[in-house]
Amino acid sequence: MNERLFQDCIDAFTIDRAALAHIAAAFRRDIDLGLDDPGASSLRLLKSYADLPDGDETGEFLALDFGGTNVRAVRIALLGNGRYETRAKAAKPLRAPGAYDLTAADACAEALFDFLARLIGEVAAPGQSCLLGHTFSFPSVQSNLYDARLVSWTKEFATPGVEGEIVNDLLTCALRRCGLSGIRPVAVINDTVATLLAAAYQTPDTRIGSICGTGHNTAYLEPHCGRALPRMILNLESGGFDRLAPNRWDTRLDAQSARPGQQRLEKMVAGRYLGALFSHALTDALELSAPPRCTTEDLSAILADNSPRLEATAALLRRSAPSLSAEAVVWSKALAETIAVRAARLTAATYAGILWHLDDAHVAPQQIAVDGTLYEKLPLYKEALRQALCEILGPEADRARVALVKDGSALGAAVAAAVAARA
Ligand code: BGC
Repeated sequence: MNERLFQDCIDAFTIDRAALAHIAAAFRRDIDLGLDDPGASSLRLLKSYADLPDGDETGEFLALDFGGTNVRAVRIALLGNGRYETRAKAAKPLRAPGAYDLTAADACAEALFDFLARLIGEVAAPGQSCLLGHTFSFPSVQSNLYDARLVSWTKEFATPGVEGEIVNDLLTCALRRCGLSGIRPVAVINDTVATLLAAAYQTPDTRIGSICGTGHNTAYLEPHCGRALPRMILNLESGGFDRLAPNRWDTRLDAQSARPGQQRLEKMVAGRYLGALFSHALTDALELSAPPRCTTEDLSAILADNSPRLEATAALLRRSAPSLSAEAVVWSKALAETIAVRAARLTAATYAGILWHLDDAHVAPQQIAVDGTLYEKLPLYKEALRQALCEILGPEADRARVALVKDGSALGAAVAAAVAARA
């Protein structure tokens, strides 16, 4: 084992306080630029046509959460005063290895949307007429709350026939084909917007919603969207931020991805990619002939392994490198930690950039709502994110409470449907 190689890898994934502050400032500048001239920014700042809810929205709604590994359909009653009740739910994976894969290039839009419609059918009361909110977690351009048109797939989705289409039109047709024409999709929102709506429904001082899961992205409430436009939530598509200094493993991963050059931040911080990044770095650190194929779940298991002799980590890594020494196992764990911590630090820098954009030097007391498996479950992640915010913002960081808001996608979709019904 060559310690030097490991140390080089670890150094290349380490981001110090000065670099963090630099990234936060660049992120803020990209928001400012994008508001004036969308072409000048690497952020998309997509309009959601949604404002924050009052918290007193009521009624029963259907919600569809489509955007990651699993699709969920939920029947939710909003009870007002930030309260709600989940009345039915169903979830299914979009890929079942060996059986089907609705996200692949050889799948088709009709099959995908029929699958979604049937899942909605499982939670709707028989013959029910109901409004549906749809959390669709891919970059989409809208001119109102209904008409989201998919710009391009992310997270390695490749189903043909959806890019460029109005996703709720595809869903409405599928619902009709499945005999569910009483169900009317009325609102489409991104999952970051949904997380923000869900959190704000319950905790009014929320202005930022973010997802740190399979994919990564953040939305915030922009008070000045331009002339003649009301304040509204903007979906930054922050995974596309590219004022960064990728290292050679970031570059390799990007080159081998479905869409090289796109989603550069996302490929450094999101669950879809962290395992692969670790595998690429390990290949060079251990001088292996082929990447060891570690998943993000493996990375998580390694981070959780606090046993004195790192047995779980050793067993996992020796699947690909059978003669790995005990010392190399220790170094590999340190590398895994550095990659996870970098993801959290980069994400924190983007939050600081948004806070600076909104509040300048004096951060207003507020909640930042975050959902996603990395924030919820990846060891070290939460702590590293908070630490980075403190490094960038100093004592002002205490005013920004980062909180896990679980399952905001479904509640947020129901809130959006309620807001659409009121309009
Ligand atoms: C998508 C975003 C989404 C994020 C989290 C990204 O790949 O482009 O729209 O919010 O994943 O699901």
